[in-house]
Amino acid sequence: MTPTAEPSRRAVDPPLPLDVPARLRTKDLLSVGDLSPDEILLVLDTAEAMKEVGTRSIKKVPALRGHTVVNLFFEPSTRTRTSFEIAEKRLSADTVNIASTGSSVSKGETLADTVRNLEAMAPDMIVLRHASAGAGHLVARLCGARVINAGDGMHEHPTQALLDAFTIREHKGGFAGLKVSIVGDLLHSRVFRSNLLLLRALGADVCACGPATLMLPDMARLGVRATTSVDEAVEGADVVMLLRVQLERMRGHFFPSLREYFQRFGMTQDRLRRAAPDAIVMHPGPMNRGVEIAPEVADGSRSVILEQVANGVAVRMAVLYLLAESRREGPAGE
Ligand code: CP
Repeated sequence: MTPTAEPSRRAVDPPLPLDVPARLRTKDLLSVGDLSPDEILLVLDTAEAMKEVGTRSIKKVPALRGHTVVNLFFEPSTRTRTSFEIAEKRLSADTVNIASTGSSVSKGETLADTVRNLEAMAPDMIVLRHASAGAGHLVARLCGARVINAGDGMHEHPTQALLDAFTIREHKGGFAGLKVSIVGDLLHSRVFRSNLLLLRALGADVCACGPATLMLPDMARLGVRATTSVDEAVEGADVVMLLRVQLERMRGHFFPSLREYFQRFGMTQDRLRRAAPDAIVMHPGPMNRGVEIAPEVADGSRSVILEQVANGVAVRMAVLYLLAESRREGPAGE
């Protein structure tokens, strides 16, 4: 075969380079807790094959041809919504995007009624972002479509934790004994909760750091070491993960000012020198530059922040693909 023949051969939708005998047990992905450690690794392994699809000149495979996926976003999103849509298109699914503005939600329609009406049009999957914790559980009970939680209030963001894990594994090879320090607004962070569940399940040593007012009340029960000292948290860390200060979820004052927050908790080059020499810096985005992270750290040589974004497409392709293949044993008892 001549090199020039390659793109046109691939244009006929080659099958995925996958042989995935295992399947996910559940109909929906609502929490990292829905996945066993083996299932988490299955998602990561499947995402590796999906990442290869993204390197082709024609980035498309027929795996979800004939499937309809509704992306239902009731909160703003750049990374999650875009990467889900790209993932769906790369898998040849038919996609529909609905945001609260422009939908009948703005006329007062409830989430339950919205979902019942969507269900009447027989979608195969619903990807849901909502401001209320547990919104995905409600939707999963109401409909037969598979439901993926793309962030529910302060509760969870499972696909973010999976793409973070994928990125960590690419750099560190594994998780057992890995020291991961998570610094920032822990209290309001669904990314923190999902990452904590996932990293603990895979054997990482997790340290959480933030102002005492932004800690979870039950850190010890969650199996995480907590400290208000950034220097202590970063000391010897293999992974430094920063979390956004979520001003939009704060009612009242949790710290004196953003300037003082940066002085006390902001990740600077100076503070980062305490981490392991090959430590990586992560942030789920969107970033508050000069608040939880200094611009030179965000753009520095240790930052893998844009790799996280790129990996989001492959990981979400893997989740969509595996859920489409999963057993129908969800909460609805199908
Ligand atoms: N990380 C994340 O969820 O980003 P978006 O809010 O832009 O989707």
